[in-house]
Amino acid sequence: MRRKLAAGNWKMNGLSASLSELEAMGKAAGGASDVLICPPATLVAPAAAAAKDTGVSIGGQDCHAAASGAHTGDISAPMLKDAGASHVILGHSERRTDHGERNEDVRLKAKAAWEADMVAVICVGESLTERDAHNTLDIIGGQLAGSIPDGATGHNLVVAYEPIWAIGTGKVPTTDQIGEVHDFIRARLERRFGSGVGRSVRLLYGGSVKASNAEEIFAVSNVDGALVGGASLKASDFVPIIEALNAAG
Ligand code: 13P
Repeated sequence: MRRKLAAGNWKMNGLSASLSELEAMGKAAGGASDVLICPPATLVAPAAAAAKDTGVSIGGQDCHAAASGAHTGDISAPMLKDAGASHVILGHSERRTDHGERNEDVRLKAKAAWEADMVAVICVGESLTERDAHNTLDIIGGQLAGSIPDGATGHNLVVAYEPIWAIGTGKVPTTDQIGEVHDFIRARLERRFGSGVGRSVRLLYGGSVKASNAEEIFAVSNVDGALVGGASLKASDFVPIIEALNAAG
């Protein structure tokens, strides 16, 4: 059985004062779902300290492919791990767009995360142009093949499906559209890694998830949780999403 996962991506949001949200989120943790918050890098260490004993895990939002070296401004997987992170989001569409990250970059970063004994949360998703051209599954298939290294397991990999056009827009795919992509990702993982591993990897949906749509999204087959942006910044928005996931069958 896959444990459900409610993950929050704070993106470039959050100052020290935001850490107080973690305590309230922690009160909702410890149920049927795991809870993960990925704050900006400046808050990873204090967030890990604040989340200690709450049941909330802390993750980074990116890492370098190398463990150390002359890479000004970058952060390595061992550094995130040392700061208290257990997970790292990789290949988010905002990184692919803003920083030109390609599938092969994401794959090397995921290997670095695994070498640091961290879970890689690898993001895939199509643009609206690609969906309108009926290329969604081709795009997702290429991203999965190129971004996930060999050696994936249910313990070291989470895949997040985030249609770019649904991120921060309030637009959400239909449950049929989400189900089609999640079933496709599951089949691809089973084909490549074997059915045991393929079935054990958790698949998250991300893109304008909020309390009001969480229940119907969590009822979709092969949706094991969510990667939430805006609605993960405040406990008052995120806790109802965690509760909806705890209640999902
Ligand atoms: P929103 O929930 O703000 O649409 O962001 C989704 C996302 O990109 C999470 O990684």
